[in-house]
Amino acid sequence: MPFRLLVPLGLLCLLLPLHHGAPGPEGTAPDPAHYRERVKAMFYHAYNSYLENAFPYDELRPLTCDGHDTWGSFSLTLIDALDTLLILGNVSEFQRVVEVLQDNLDFDIDVNASVFETNIRVVGGLLSAHLLSKKAGVEVEAGWPCSGPLLRMAEEAARKLLPAFQTPTGMPYGTVNLLHGVNPGETPVTCTAGIGTFIVEFATLSSLTGDSVFEEKARVALMRLWESRSDIGLVGNHIDVLTGKWVAQDAGIGAGVDSYFEYLVKGAILLQDKKLMTMFLEYNKAIRNYTRFDDWYLWVQMYKGTVSMPVFQSLEAYWPGLQSLIGDIDNAMKTFLNYYTVWKQFGGLPETKGRAVGSGRLDEGILFSQTEQVKSAEND
Ligand SMILES: *[C@@H]1O[C@H](CO)[C@@H](O)[C@H](O)[C@H]1NC(C)=O
Ligand SMILES: *[C@@H]1O[C@H](CO)[C@@H](O)[C@H](O)[C@H]1NC(C)=O
Ligand SMILES: *[C@@H]1O[C@H](CO)[C@@H](O)[C@H](O)[C@H]1NC(C)=O
Repeated sequence: MPFRLLVPLGLLCLLLPLHHGAPGPEGTAPDPAHYRERVKAMFYHAYNSYLENAFPYDELRPLTCDGHDTWGSFSLTLIDALDTLLILGNVSEFQRVVEVLQDNLDFDIDVNASVFETNIRVVGGLLSAHLLSKKAGVEVEAGWPCSGPLLRMAEEAARKLLPAFQTPTGMPYGTVNLLHGVNPGETPVTCTAGIGTFIVEFATLSSLTGDSVFEEKARVALMRLWESRSDIGLVGNHIDVLTGKWVAQDAGIGAGVDSYFEYLVKGAILLQDKKLMTMFLEYNKAIRNYTRFDDWYLWVQMYKGTVSMPVFQSLEAYWPGLQSLIGDIDNAMKTFLNYYTVWKQFGGLPETKGRAVGSGRLDEGILFSQTEQVKSAEND
């Protein structure tokens, strides 16, 4: 029996309009060129609007049409857009932006930055642009890929994050001041993703710079999380990095945890590291056993395995992609179909605020009607 989804009414006004008139209605093949042009047009709409209205701030505020700093003061949207410019083949704009960043980017600033966001967006954005640049036809300096302006900026940004890892457990604080290090009195509570989402960037940085410190820090944090799993094999949502005690004990695949699992798999592939893949596959067993109901994934209590939050949220949408990466196509298709059904019916995935936790990321989602219904659905 399929279970019903309860959609809060407030969500309806946030829904994206469904796209009508695209090629590829029933029975005919979709036209990739049409979608390619559509994606390009969407990118340039957002990119040019940012440049016109929000630069040099981090992000555009689309309602007031001005800029503001969100995750630091890095002109973050420019960094986020760098690799996309290369993928779209816009080398001249890419080179212009690299020069702008070289002249303006300064990490010696009194800013309280999210360690997680600075890594994935700034360090990751700079590194992927650096690595893609040659293939995209950008002239690179001698010694590339072990030298180059973007790599130097990425390394500088990453060094600013290292003080966050100076904890008794090796698991990082969530916030660091780029000038002064960790603030006195900083909360020691970090979400799981905020601890386990470094290996891809940090291992890349270590191999390009020859300094092993980044990869070592990322690996220690991953090991501590692994050792902190419950005896039924699950990790919770937030942990105290000083004591190693779980503070939020909801186990699931969505907000607060998501990219930890993603980085175990991507790290295993990137580094050809069997240990990382073994960790993921062990988690995967427990996730499937305790959190999966009819190919939906709910939140459960990490020690007991009982459902604690029966919600589906947009940040879980990466899961079928991750299943595909490990070759689990069958299950990926089932979960994808569930999520796609929500998308088709409502025009988007739910981003309602649920149990918010102090990580800078919101728990968002659709509530499943009743846990009992979900359980009985599984037994059908
Ligand atoms: C590259 O991007 C800039 C800024 O949006 C734009 O003016 C230019 O036309 C683009 N060039 C190409 C080749 O798309
Ligand atoms: C950073 O956080 C600390 C501790 O909460 C606070 O005292 C300080 O004013 C903040 N600095 C900035 C630039 O926001
Ligand atoms: C699955 O859950 C049951 C309890 O519901 C437990 O006995 C069993 O060991 C679990 N198996 C795995 C692989 O986690």
